[in-house]
Amino acid sequence: MQKITSVRGRLVYDSRGNKTIEVDVITDNEYVGRTSVPAGASVGRNEVINFPNGEPEKCLDAINNNSSKFVGLDPMDLKCIHETIREIDNTDNYSNVGGAFAFAITISSMESASKFFHVPLFNVLTNKSKLEFPIPLGNILGGGLHAGIGTPDIQEILICPHGSKSIRNAVEINFNVHRELQNVLYQKNLNFTGGRSDEGGWAPEINNEEALEASCKACENLGYVLGKDVSLGIDLASSTQWDQKHEKYIYKHNQLQLTQEQQIEFVSDLIDRYKLIYVEDATHQDSFDAMSELTNTFPNVFITGDDLTVTNKRILEHAIKLKSCNAAILKVNQAGSLYDALKFAQHANKNNIKIITSHRSGETIDSQIAHIGISTGSKMLKIGVVGGERVSKINELIRISEYDLIHGMTQL
Ligand code: PGA
Ligand code: ZN
Repeated sequence: MQKITSVRGRLVYDSRGNKTIEVDVITDNEYVGRTSVPAGASVGRNEVINFPNGEPEKCLDAINNNSSKFVGLDPMDLKCIHETIREIDNTDNYSNVGGAFAFAITISSMESASKFFHVPLFNVLTNKSKLEFPIPLGNILGGGLHAGIGTPDIQEILICPHGSKSIRNAVEINFNVHRELQNVLYQKNLNFTGGRSDEGGWAPEINNEEALEASCKACENLGYVLGKDVSLGIDLASSTQWDQKHEKYIYKHNQLQLTQEQQIEFVSDLIDRYKLIYVEDATHQDSFDAMSELTNTFPNVFITGDDLTVTNKRILEHAIKLKSCNAAILKVNQAGSLYDALKFAQHANKNNIKIITSHRSGETIDSQIAHIGISTGSKMLKIGVVGGERVSKINELIRISEYDLIHGMTQL
């Protein structure tokens, strides 16, 4: 039987230049699985802790002090690896060793197993024979915590090429829209410098509506019909605007203060006006009832939980009970281990919650999420458009397209 022969961690850097950890899991002294850990900026309150006390060094110490406990295990046995991690840290939020520990060891183990068996990673993550490609969902314009002062309050405007015929066609549409949007923004705003947000979307000094208008214009200039060839989506990351004390959403750029009810009206109006196909975290992370109002009103829009559901099976159960969303983000490091995240995915699939496997705003050049998105039956893969750390995932999708998978493009 294949066995893990060593586990080794090191400190490396993410796309924001922040320290993170990378872990090598080696099987039979030969087959290396290597994973480095991304980090969020608009982090949900119920996510696990990425690093103990925010210190990657502490996480690294934990990895190197416990590495011998993984030696001799089967790298394919995700449950056993997860349980070994749980013997080291059984806190709900991985506060002792950090979710990054669980993230990196579990993904590296499975990658190492895939190398041992000479098969792609998605093959060892699922035994389903019918696999579909998720649609790449790309960030074309950034605001909020990802872009800073002067940019729109909406954190992300996203392009979804749901009318595309192939993965290559889909990613090229996303590149085209991103490129054309730059032209539109230059024409619109003389002060626009071509600056970009953390996830590679443009970061102009315009308001929410102007940003959405410009994004629609970019699609139209290219001859794409909104709602048919492509659609726009948004991530409001509403918890970053929510002021609990005053019970209002504070929109600094648009100088608006909205009550929960007004926020629902505001989002509903955006969905109608811009024919949005996708809305993430439309209301704040504790507002399960408000989200269910939107889910009920817009059954054909991806009403998606991110900070709301935080890749946590127990919280998802609550959201399902209240019908708070019809789609949910899967970010492995919100959950901790890959085992935790796959359990979340199983539960989502069983309950017809559409999965969107997602990057973080602080990314690494790893590309395993392309495989995780496919193996979990994700409908979309939220991986950005430009920037090396985003393109690495897009290029992995292109490589995977050489395997015989079904194009899920028309299945939304
Ligand atoms: P992040 O959030 O900055 O926490 O990665 C991105 C998102 O809200 O989807
Ligand atoms: Zn989000």
